[in-house]
Amino acid sequence: MNVSAEQVVLASRYLGLALRNPLVAAASPVTGRLDTLRRLDDAGVGAVVLPSLFEEQIEHDELALAELDQVGKEISPEISGYLDPFTGVEVGPGGYLRRLEAAKGALSVPVIASLNGHRPGGWTHHAQLMQDAGADAIELNIYFLATDASETGHDVEERTVDTVAAVCSQVKVPVAVKIGPWFSSVPSLVRRLDEAGAQGVTLFNRFYQPDVDLEELEVAPRLVLSTPEETRLSLRWIAILHGRTAIDLAASSGAHEADDVVKLLLVGADVVTMASSLLLHGPEHVAKVLTELRAWMAEHEYDDVSDLRGALSQRAAPDPAAFERANYLRTLTRYAAAYRPPR
Ligand SMILES: Cc1cc2nc3c(=O)[nH]c(=O)nc-3n(C[C@H](O)[C@H](O)[C@H](O)COP(=O)(O)O)c2cc1C
Repeated sequence: MNVSAEQVVLASRYLGLALRNPLVAAASPVTGRLDTLRRLDDAGVGAVVLPSLFEEQIEHDELALAELDQVGKEISPEISGYLDPFTGVEVGPGGYLRRLEAAKGALSVPVIASLNGHRPGGWTHHAQLMQDAGADAIELNIYFLATDASETGHDVEERTVDTVAAVCSQVKVPVAVKIGPWFSSVPSLVRRLDEAGAQGVTLFNRFYQPDVDLEELEVAPRLVLSTPEETRLSLRWIAILHGRTAIDLAASSGAHEADDVVKLLLVGADVVTMASSLLLHGPEHVAKVLTELRAWMAEHEYDDVSDLRGALSQRAAPDPAAFERANYLRTLTRYAAAYRPPR
């Protein structure tokens, strides 16, 4: 039966949560304020991920409290707070938990809290505090660059898995792990994350590359928002993983418009997360993407998003080799055959 765009079913499940649709607002400043969170909810978003609470923030706060204890003082508001110098917003664990509670109270959709760290440690008990403050799930962002030559790929993977196990052991709510793409075997790591207790994996973290400022002769961090081209990396790995792991797959990096969302769902994403496009166009962009997603589905005779999901995964695709090495040779040969040097 073919339905109209309005009748298309978008209801999805992610991390065991019932979502009205598969669009998730990724952690970014858009999910860091109650007014924009409300606007995301009104625009129809499926779920939101709050900005991360960082291992460093927790440890900084605990250090500050220990110092206070030593001098035998009462905790003073000036020191127990940990203020962002730009916004004046309290960014330490206490402020985070209060903002999480407020978001839970204000929104009609699941609220996913985010913890950001890369090695097991005392900070992982904040997963439990997030759960107690009402988080429906936790996204654990393992943002790490291996720069120490004495640490092997195996060591990095072990630490990642141990960190995930430590966080999962703290909570009953589901945990999704946001990883970078630079692992020797993504499928093997994803299997190990599943075994460590994760219920989802977010593919992939976007790494911010430093730049060189030619005037100041400095290395400067420069945040550049993503472009839709960047979906290709997660598109490939989600296609390969879909149907081969029990863990839920969230796409991250590069989804800006409905076409990007459709592609990622077709290869098997359970949900598609967006940050850059919401920063650029505002929370109402969600409504536009949803309208266009519905229109695309109706036009292509998909009544339900679950029929669309995975229809072009590697297992289902007419040409599974398109996701593998065989395609590399074909792509290069075709390009070389068509190449004409500029005059
Ligand atoms: C300004 C900004 C702040 C972000 N803050 C966080 C964060 O706190 N935690 C996190 O896991 N990801 C954070 N991200 C990453 C996004 O959640 C997302 O994974 C990344 O931007 C790629 O998705 P996109 O292409 O839709 O932007 C941030 C991104 C931006 C641009």
